[in-house]
Amino acid sequence: MSIRLTRRELLIGGAAATLPSVSMAQSTPNNTRFELQKGQKRPFDRERFVEDCIEAHMEADPVAAVREVLASAVSDHRAVLAGIGDPVQAGLDVMLSSPTLTIFAAAWTPQMNLLPHDHLMWALIGIYTGREDNILWRNGEGGIEAYAANCLFEGDVATLQANAIHSVTNPLLRFTGGIHIYGGDFFATERHQWDPETLQRQPSDGAVIRAMFERENKRYLKLCD
Ligand SMILES: [Fe+2]
Repeated sequence: MSIRLTRRELLIGGAAATLPSVSMAQSTPNNTRFELQKGQKRPFDRERFVEDCIEAHMEADPVAAVREVLASAVSDHRAVLAGIGDPVQAGLDVMLSSPTLTIFAAAWTPQMNLLPHDHLMWALIGIYTGREDNILWRNGEGGIEAYAANCLFEGDVATLQANAIHSVTNPLLRFTGGIHIYGGDFFATERHQWDPETLQRQPSDGAVIRAMFERENKRYLKLCD
């Protein structure tokens, strides 16, 4: 016996869902790609994940639709970790870079901190290993001021609006990994970060981010010595 589910139906079922007690035969390209046995979970497929995000991004409410795809994926965070691999250094594993959508897996070293920064486009964060603590900032009369915080655990997803400013900490003594999705060209957009002590605004872009990761990996290597 075989059943056919559309990609969307599979997503709504969730990567974490135990699949029906029937095998799903290889089907048309628009349907399942894997033959799954009773009780087997669907593995994380990064190419398929990107395709699903692109498809969702074309819906009437792209943020909600892409969030649904991300939430479904990280609901089985162990499968995502197995598909992406254990993080071993701070950095970005880019899955998609386009003018309208950017997707990457970001790895934070143990106890890594990121300065307050903006994105100037909507963003989604889904944690697949470790934890990420966020402080949310907003513009006040004398500069930015903190107004909220949240803790993202494995399987959690956060939505950040286009005007969001946040600083990020990995509070754990192990790596944190998350899938980050942005509604624009993350690497080509000139953004801002704020000095953590003076809270003075500074420019930020892809080069600033790369330099930050290099410094962070040097710090981590020193800790490992
Ligand atoms: Fe961010």
